[in-house]
This record gives sequence, structure tokens and C-alpha cells, in this order.
Amino acid sequence: MDFSVANKILLTCARGVVPFLQKEVERLGFPVQQSLQLGLFTRGTLNDAIALNLSLRTANRVHFLLHEFRAENPDHLYQQLVKLPWEGIIDSRGYVSVTSSVMNDAVSDSRFANLKCKDAIVDRIAAKKGERPDSGPDHSRSAVYLYWKENDCAIYVDTTGESLSRRGYRKIPLQAPMQETLAAAVLLAADWRGDGHFVNPMCGSGTLGIEAALIALNKAPGLLRHNFGFMHVKGYDKAAYLDIRKSLRADIRKKSDFDFVLSDIDGQAVAAARQNARTAGVDHLLKFHRCDFRETPVPQGRGMVFVNPGYGVRLEDERSLEGVYSGLGDFFKRKCLGYTGYIFTGNLMLAKRVGLKTSRRLIFYNGSIEARLLEYELYDGSRAKPHTVVQKDGAE
Ligand SMILES: C[S@@+](CC[C@H](N)C(=O)[O-])C[C@H]1O[C@@H](n2cnc3c(N)ncnc32)[C@H](O)[C@@H]1O
Repeated sequence: MDFSVANKILLTCARGVVPFLQKEVERLGFPVQQSLQLGLFTRGTLNDAIALNLSLRTANRVHFLLHEFRAENPDHLYQQLVKLPWEGIIDSRGYVSVTSSVMNDAVSDSRFANLKCKDAIVDRIAAKKGERPDSGPDHSRSAVYLYWKENDCAIYVDTTGESLSRRGYRKIPLQAPMQETLAAAVLLAADWRGDGHFVNPMCGSGTLGIEAALIALNKAPGLLRHNFGFMHVKGYDKAAYLDIRKSLRADIRKKSDFDFVLSDIDGQAVAAARQNARTAGVDHLLKFHRCDFRETPVPQGRGMVFVNPGYGVRLEDERSLEGVYSGLGDFFKRKCLGYTGYIFTGNLMLAKRVGLKTSRRLIFYNGSIEARLLEYELYDGSRAKPHTVVQKDGAE
């Protein structure tokens, strides 16, 4: 298989993230050929797929197209797939996992399509090489993705493997963390570029603060990982991978002129956030405080204050959170003038308790929970327009 030839590349992401993924892709100089609900199509070589894996902040996976064909049923699927030169892509002594999206009346369970696809791959390799690779659900080695809608099939090399949201820095899991790719998406939606202070009360495991620091330092998130699906493609261009890493490393800024303040009331969360920041190599930028969010020190000047409070679904009970949300409104008004405030929440009723007028409301999904990124302009006295306070029980 000639991987120096450009082909379709499917980038996947969470619902609501596509516009921000599109901007990232275009900024890297790749064309956006088609936008989907959960991703988009671009075009490039396998080496381009390597660069996308290392650079993108909001994508979950990078799939490189091998072949498109038609199949009516699982037997047709097998017959088409067994013709492909898998022995040139997957090591006969390796390991392969298959995932799929299947919308075909002949197949009620996508696991059956995965099995047929896996059979075709290992049968083909066994026929050509006299030995067959192992297979199973482990995504950390060779990975293949099948898309099958009605009679249209597309088979891809999953060049990512474990989702890109697993950056590798979150060693200590806490309750209800944001996915790293979602945290990056809401920061890019807020147009965060690192040109102001960043304040993150209720930081939990530190995802928002760490992603904000990575953006401010222009540090590509893929530099934190050392295993990707493309590394298990036979004959992948290791020299190109090392060159891409080197040039991305050269682009990293050493420091920021602004402060990053992360706080949480829970000492374990602060310790986890600190450790995670160290693993991500951004701890030298971040200052941590164990305190109630109301006591978070806010540096003089301008910047963003970003809060992801509990929703009352998975963490605290909704009632006890009412005071937290109204307290956030007071904290913004009292201590954050001159900043732009952001609250990321999956509970719109609680969001009304903030009592400030939103300047923007963007829809995201945190897993299956519909969420909002709410933006508040917190004008200080030197600006013409005062912030608008509305009744606590009403819509803004
Ligand atoms: C939804 S979690 C934040 C998750 C975080 N975005 C992450 O990715 O890990 C909410 C955090 O708020 C903290 N918290 C709850 N009440 C607080 C309060 N009154 N003051 C400060 N932190 C509080 C909790 O300890 C928890 O870590």
C-alpha cells in the first residue's frame, strides 16, 4: 500500500465540536471537504495523518481511508475486505482491533460487522503470510474502522488508536472530569489564546487549566503521547514522525506573561490537578489554591475566569448547588470585573441562578448530557457599559 498518496481522512469529534475542529484543521492548512455532525472530512497522506494526530486539540480520532465499496450483507462485506492487501498494512505477528458504525438492515449488532471485518483481515494475512495476527478490543495497537451505511462501506486505518482525548496527563481520575478534547473545544470557542490571565475555580483534576496552559504555550497535545495507531501501520514513516515532533517542539513558547490560577475546595482535587499539570509539563505556569471558589485570588488586569461546577446530575444534589450558582454570579461581579466569565454546565435551570446576562450561549455535549458554555462580559468601571444584573429567578 502506498501511503505517500493522498486520500480522504475522516476526523471524528464530540457533538457540538465540529466548528472548532474545522477552524483547527484550516489553520493547519488542510482543506475541509465535508462537515458532519460528529466530524469532518479532510484529505492528506499518512504522514499528514501523523501531523493531525499530534497537533489537533479537539479531534478524537484520525481515520485514513483505505477503500470504499458496496456491500449488501455481511458475506459481501467479507468478500470485499478479504481482497485488500492487509499483509502490507498489519504485521502478521501483530494485533488488530476493529470498531465500526453500522446502519444496515442486514446487521442488527455492529459487533457482528466487526467480527466479519476482523475475519477478513486475519484470513487474508494468514493466506499470504502463513500466520495470523491476534485480535481483540485493545485499541493500543493496529486499529481499523469500518463505516457501513445501507450498502455503502468505507474501511479506514484508525491512525489514532486510543482516543486523542486521552492525552496521557490525567493520571489521577476524579469524579466528573471533562474530556480533554471537550475542554480544549470550549477554550477555543471562548477564543482563548493565552493573552490574559486564566482563573479556574472548582478546577477538579485541572483539565481546563492544563488545556489553557497548553494553548498559551502553543504546545501540541500529541507531544504528550508516545503511542498512536499509525505506529502500528507496517512501514510507517518513523523519520517523518520524529521530524514533525521536533518542529512542534520548536514551536513551544517557554513562558507566559500572564497568571494561571486554579483552585478547588477539595485538597485531593488540588493535589491531582498539580500532579496532572506536572505530567503535562505546564506546572511551572500554574498556581494552585485550596479554597472555596469565592476566595479564589483573581490577578489584577484582564483575562478569563472559567468555571465547570457540578451539574446536580452526577455530583452534588441540585438543591445544594443553587447557592453555588448564585454565588458564582456574585463572585464574578465582586472579584472578576475586567474579565470575561465562562460557566460550562449541563444544568440550565441552575445556570439561571447565576443572575447575570449572558453575552453568548453555545451548545456542547458532555457525553450524553446537553451542556452550555455561557459567556458573561464582566465590564469594569473604566468601561462604558455596566454589567447587567437580572432577577435570580428569571431568564436573562
Ligand atoms: C464538575 S467538577 C470539575 C471538573 C473539572 N472540570 C475536571 O475536568 O476535572 C466540580 C469541582 O468543584 C469542586 N467544588 C464543589 N464545591 C466547591 C466550592 N464551594 N468551592 C470550590 N470548589 C468546589 C469540587 O471539589 C469538584 O472538584
